[in-house]
Amino acid sequence: MQPTRRKIFTETGIMKHRKNNNLPIFVVVFSVFLFGVFMYNEDVKSIAEFPFSRPKSSEIRDVQSKQENPVRESIKEKENAVSLNTNDEEADQDLKKSIVVKDKEDEEEQEEEVERIELPVIEEDDEDIELPPESCDLFDGQWVFENKTHPLYKEDECEFLTAQVTCMRNGRKDSLYQNWRWQPRDCNLPKYKPRLLLEKLRNKRLMFVGDSLNRNQWESMVCLVQSVVPPGRKTWKKSGSLAVFRIEVNGSNFTKNLMKCHLWYSHCQLNCSKDYNATVEFYWAPFLVRSNSDDPDMHSILNRIIMPESIEEHGKNWKDVDYLVFNTYIWWMNTFNMKIFRRGSFDRGDTEYDEIERPVAYDRVLTTWSKWVDKNINPNRTMVFFISMSPLHINSTDWNNPGGIKCALEKTPILDQSSFLYVGTDRRLFVIASNITENMKVPVHLINITKLSEYRKDAHTSVYTIRQGKMLTSDQQAEPATYADCIHWCLPGLPDTWNEFLYTRIMARS
Ligand SMILES: *[C@@H]1O[C@H](CO)[C@@H](O)[C@H](O)[C@H]1NC(C)=O
Ligand SMILES: *[C@@H]1O[C@H](CO)[C@@H](O)[C@H](O)[C@H]1NC(C)=O
Ligand SMILES: *[C@@H]1O[C@H](CO)[C@@H](O)[C@H](O)[C@H]1NC(C)=O
Ligand SMILES: *[C@@H]1O[C@H](CO)[C@@H](O)[C@H](O)[C@H]1NC(C)=O
Ligand SMILES: *[C@@H]1O[C@H](CO)[C@@H](O)[C@H](O)[C@H]1NC(C)=O
Ligand SMILES: *[C@@H]1O[C@H](CO)[C@@H](O)[C@H](O)[C@H]1NC(C)=O
Ligand SMILES: *[C@@H]1O[C@H](CO)[C@@H](O)[C@H](O)[C@H]1NC(C)=O
Ligand SMILES: *[C@@H]1O[C@H](CO)[C@@H](O)[C@H](O)[C@H]1NC(C)=O
Ligand SMILES: *[C@@H]1O[C@H](CO)[C@@H](O)[C@H](O)[C@H]1NC(C)=O
Repeated sequence: MQPTRRKIFTETGIMKHRKNNNLPIFVVVFSVFLFGVFMYNEDVKSIAEFPFSRPKSSEIRDVQSKQENPVRESIKEKENAVSLNTNDEEADQDLKKSIVVKDKEDEEEQEEEVERIELPVIEEDDEDIELPPESCDLFDGQWVFENKTHPLYKEDECEFLTAQVTCMRNGRKDSLYQNWRWQPRDCNLPKYKPRLLLEKLRNKRLMFVGDSLNRNQWESMVCLVQSVVPPGRKTWKKSGSLAVFRIEVNGSNFTKNLMKCHLWYSHCQLNCSKDYNATVEFYWAPFLVRSNSDDPDMHSILNRIIMPESIEEHGKNWKDVDYLVFNTYIWWMNTFNMKIFRRGSFDRGDTEYDEIERPVAYDRVLTTWSKWVDKNINPNRTMVFFISMSPLHINSTDWNNPGGIKCALEKTPILDQSSFLYVGTDRRLFVIASNITENMKVPVHLINITKLSEYRKDAHTSVYTIRQGKMLTSDQQAEPATYADCIHWCLPGLPDTWNEFLYTRIMARS
């Protein structure tokens, strides 16, 4: 036990000193002194053991699956209108209740883990990454199989994933969907280094705002950053429409933090009063503007009615966020026309509405949104992203597999990009989003995931997911035509690539 720990520390120390052989001698002496303190420091012990301790994910999962409510989507295709029974989507996730996820100390198990470790997981990960030129179109390219680099994290190493997306744990047998990397045609995406991203997030808030696809991407982002944060420093809380993943390393004790620095923040060197203090948040607003489906606890509503000009109430929760990531799409696909609130107030039970065409309503909503952003966002402080439409894969004849059942039997992406592919995405909405984001005062990065995600018929959660809070039964799994979810995506998986685009843009920011 003790020797193992010493080894871990020593190796880190050596790496440090090799890199900094011009450090003043007193620093070295000080480090040695700290090392001594460290050996007896209870508090740091758990940190030293961090990479080797197993997430107690089963407990967390239990809490979640009780809370999580599934997507019950019965999809009828008619005139390009997809009927999604997303009503209960996030519903009943007992969002009022706060869950705090913290790792429990389990000394015995942790010690066992440590003894099996041969090399410290701590990497010297300071080298710069190579960023693509701003002008390079990241979204034009192809999928490349590469199991050395992808997935970027492992399903069972991210305790924060909800049961909705953990496809392997839910019984999916093929895992190749995790191994595809997006290769832009004219440049490369930078290597993903969580520490560098976390550095950019220091003392900052990153918030996803939108529907369940954005929540899908939020879960991915949490996993992407959480691996480098010691246990006990990460909390996950939900209250109302907001879910917050918080990374906190206390700055109150300089001595303690100095040791944490040595162990964890190789780049932090001697300036150890610097602490991570970052949040990765998700805000539920499926139409961005107000609607009668905004209640995170209760949106089993038949008539979805939106208020296209009403955004303040949500917007006040988005102010003072440093990175804002918006989307809105899937709920627009419920019906061909949208129901627009006429007058009065939801709270008083008014339900009169007009029906207008989907693109007209979308334009009104995004116009409201863009005005809000231009008025309330200081571009010197906040970076704004808009994620384009995430496609569905409902009809396998779309990709010439007449024997397929929705997306359920798909194990590989569409690799032939030469033939025309149409999977039902409403491109009219894309054009509107693209036009509006281009013409704003505040620069908005349109993350054009639509086409490249259309190739990923293999990456949906399909029958390896939950429904009304419960795992699909094996009978249900055997009936993909009814039960397959071809809207959401497994994690690790495609949304990690969407986040690689965010990473690229965030890292490029000076
Ligand atoms: C989005 O990317 C696709 C390629 O993936 C490209 O064909 C399309 O023109 C792009 N759209 C916009 C608005 O940039
Ligand atoms: C990666 O893929 C190659 C080629 O398909 C295969 O031979 C190899 O076993 C795979 N490695 C892992 C770790 O899955
Ligand atoms: C932590 O981050 C928040 C923003 O997320 C910021 O307002 C706060 O000042 C930071 N705390 C410290 C101690 O820097
Ligand atoms: C940080 O310190 C405060 C007060 O000193 C304490 O309440 C909180 O639990 C600490 N957080 C962590 C993650 O250690
Ligand atoms: C700081 O941490 C050290 C080592 O754990 C401990 O001995 C000391 O009492 C702590 N000081 C404060 C002010 O918490
Ligand atoms: C070191 O930390 C202090 C206080 O937190 C900060 O003012 C200073 O800029 C930091 N220096 C470097 C080189 O990061
Ligand atoms: C942003 O920064 C630029 C240059 O520093 C400055 O001219 C501009 O007024 C700032 N804008 C806002 C909204 O603070
Ligand atoms: C799938 O698309 C084909 C061709 O567009 C159409 O003939 C067929 O009816 C569709 N199947 C379903 C189940 O909607
Ligand atoms: C693009 O937006 C501008 C105003 O921002 C509008 O005048 C124009 O008609 C729009 N074009 C399309 C193709 O939607």
